[in-house]
Amino acid sequence: MNCFTTTDKGMAAVIKVVTIRKSSLWRLLGSIFVLLLVLSSIYLESWKIVTTNIHYIPFGISASVSLGKTQAQDITDAEHLRQIARKVQVAGVNCEALLDGDKNEIKAALSLKTNASIPLMDSFYLNITTNCTDFQKQRGYIMSSLTNEERNFSIAFSVMVYKDAEMVERLLRAIYRPHNVYCIHVDYKSPLEFFRAISAIANCFPNVFIASKRVDVRWGTFTVLEPELICMEELWRYRKWKYFINLTGQEFPLKTNYELVKILTAYNGSVD
Ligand SMILES: *[C@@H]1O[C@H](CO)[C@@H](O)[C@H](O)[C@H]1NC(C)=O
Ligand SMILES: *[C@@H]1O[C@H](CO)[C@@H](O)[C@H](O)[C@H]1NC(C)=O
Ligand SMILES: *[C@@H]1O[C@H](CO)[C@@H](O)[C@H](O)[C@H]1NC(C)=O
Ligand SMILES: *[C@@H]1O[C@H](CO)[C@@H](O)[C@H](O)[C@H]1NC(C)=O
Ligand SMILES: *[C@@H]1O[C@H](CO)[C@@H](O)[C@H](O)[C@H]1NC(C)=O
Ligand SMILES: *[C@@H]1O[C@H](CO)[C@@H](O)[C@H](O)[C@H]1NC(C)=O
Repeated sequence: MNCFTTTDKGMAAVIKVVTIRKSSLWRLLGSIFVLLLVLSSIYLESWKIVTTNIHYIPFGISASVSLGKTQAQDITDAEHLRQIARKVQVAGVNCEALLDGDKNEIKAALSLKTNASIPLMDSFYLNITTNCTDFQKQRGYIMSSLTNEERNFSIAFSVMVYKDAEMVERLLRAIYRPHNVYCIHVDYKSPLEFFRAISAIANCFPNVFIASKRVDVRWGTFTVLEPELICMEELWRYRKWKYFINLTGQEFPLKTNYELVKILTAYNGSVD
């Protein structure tokens, strides 16, 4: 019953386990396509984000205000990760044994897949987001930058989505950090209910927004690229980010934010 991990890598595994259990669709197939955009000489604000506790950004307060709060760093990052790891326990799964490659535990975890829960309705998100503080807590969002290195290395994301709010929300939850910035483009053809759900989720975070223009995306045409250009332009308002990553709602990260930062730092400003 001990699903306790102390490393960020462990966190990724825990997220994986949650995913496998919840839906057989989630085969963690997504590999992250890192795209480009070198930003020369970016002005970096010296951010002081609360790192002593898992920090919930109060509803309705802008990013600059809520991210600007300062607090003494009196616990270590390792303790931080431990606190978060405690929050993402998977009932009935011994994550430690799983990570050690225990055959029986792997078998048990795989069997969870056959009991995958019914997908959440898009409308579910309208209800659950009425209180954003509750929403962030219940869904287990990481509201801390975790490490100084990550805080100093903001990443901008564009996410092209068209269906399945639950899947999109899982992706967002996996990549969400309070110092990054996220632009979500909802296809023009998407059902209204879906659009409302994604908008409600975005409204719960100061650094997540919906692209102002919605394109009718059709494969094999320019419209596939257009949403990313729209997002890039709108992400430009947030000058602090260093790299841009384009995703779709059907992807899932195989790396933690910390690992991404390490990889992108090694790029030293070059483009993949
Ligand atoms: C899956 O569901 C069945 C019936 O509801 C239950 O008996 C079984 O214990 C469940 N398996 C797991 C791994 O939860
Ligand atoms: C949504 O919330 C309302 C009241 O807050 C409640 O009556 C309704 O049953 C909820 N719907 C769902 C699907 O949870
Ligand atoms: C949200 O819920 C929390 C308790 O979980 C409560 O303290 C807070 O006042 C609520 N916020 C709003 C805006 O209702
Ligand atoms: C983060 O950036 C600040 C200011 O640019 C710098 O003083 C600090 O050493 C950096 N920390 C890390 C861990 O890179
Ligand atoms: C991201 O952009 C690159 C370059 O345009 C493209 O090759 C790749 O398919 C895009 N990834 C996604 C997930 O759209
Ligand atoms: C990183 O790039 C800068 C120029 O942009 C160069 O001076 C420096 O040597 C590079 N660092 C590494 C480790 O390649």
